[in-house]
Amino acid sequence: MNFELTQEQLLLQKTAREFAQNKLLPGIIERDETSVFPMDLFKEFGKTGAYGLPYPEEYGGTGGSYMDYVLSVEEISKVDGAFGISYSVNTSLYGGSIMNSSASDDIKKKFLAPITYGEKAGSFGLTEHSAGSDAAGQTTVAVKKGDKYIINGSKCFNTNGPFADFTVIYALTDPALGTKGMCAFVVEKDTAGFSVGRIENKMGIRTSPVSELHLENVEVPEEQMIARPGEGFKLAMKTLDGGRIGVAAQGLGIAEGAFEIARSYMMERAQFGKPIAKQQYLAFKMAELQTKIESARMMVYRAAWMKDNGKPYTVPAAMAKMTCTNVAMEVTTEAVQLLGGNGYMKEYHVERMMRDAKITQIYEGTNEIQKLVISGQLFR
Ligand code: CAA
Repeated sequence: MNFELTQEQLLLQKTAREFAQNKLLPGIIERDETSVFPMDLFKEFGKTGAYGLPYPEEYGGTGGSYMDYVLSVEEISKVDGAFGISYSVNTSLYGGSIMNSSASDDIKKKFLAPITYGEKAGSFGLTEHSAGSDAAGQTTVAVKKGDKYIINGSKCFNTNGPFADFTVIYALTDPALGTKGMCAFVVEKDTAGFSVGRIENKMGIRTSPVSELHLENVEVPEEQMIARPGEGFKLAMKTLDGGRIGVAAQGLGIAEGAFEIARSYMMERAQFGKPIAKQQYLAFKMAELQTKIESARMMVYRAAWMKDNGKPYTVPAAMAKMTCTNVAMEVTTEAVQLLGGNGYMKEYHVERMMRDAKITQIYEGTNEIQKLVISGQLFR
């Protein structure tokens, strides 16, 4: 077993770390307050090739690995978890849907290559108001008409929805067949009948926009059907397996970011005549949190390694997602407490990180759904 990162991985980690510190950190409090997505920075970071890290060069990627992508999302999320999820949805849920699909090579190149360097952005349209945890309960319908499909329905909680150029839309060709009739299409933003609905006002990850998407008689050419009827649900599930590794990396990064702020603060902040780091009760708390972060790191790196090495990773991904996001919630909550009154103030960042951490326990399958996935395999 080799725990060393390669020179290339150390370099991409450094690139992401410097981008987060130098570009994302300035102005982050204001962006969080006003819910402004830094599109210019999203495009700028894209130029490093980060969004295509796990994809082959022939599809516009950099030919790296999922582990590379995890390291990059982790570094970004140490500073800005909201940017981390927009990145993750773009690469693993949108890009993953395309890459994992049975679409032709031409379609894969057409719709994957532009997102890998940030020229275009992608979103993932699975969730509906009545189909959240029960992803099979779709009501969006696609009807064949000549060499086109006509799609009608609405999606909700679409990360990147308001600005995505391309969205993968999951739909049913025959509602009576349930998941056996589920298919998927890639839909372009400017297609007639496709519109962005309500943009949500959220507790956390406020700079990563989330919206409804409406499809009213949206005509999509047959070649943009990336999963044929009956393949769509499996495509969504397989893609979510990869997405959950991304969310795990995001959770790990948020936890590490908050931990580091708390550690520095504890060495500076003096009470009762000494730095609070010298209070053994608080130092022990940090020792426990650091141990949990290291355990979480092993889980997400291992899940990425399994995916990269062609081993089954559904359960490792679910375990990593649940563990890392629970650790993110615990560490950020403790960080607020460790910083006392200052922790509650925006300029110390940990209150934002705590708000950002909460959603990681909910999206891409709640942590209860992860238990369903894990226990489902256990008692098959
Ligand atoms: N990979 C491939 N195929 C899979 C699979 C996987 N991981 N998991 C299930 N399948 C297949 C099964 O083998 C089965 O195939 P057959 O019919 O051929 O046997 C089929 O899919 C149906 O499987 P289940 O009976 O297990 O399906 P289910 O209806 O019981 O649902 C579930 C399972 C795990 C609960 C699933 O609905 C689920 O993951 N729900 C959570 C949805 C979710 O994560 N949503 C997140 C939305 S995206 C988001 O949050 C984005 C964002 O903005 C950040």
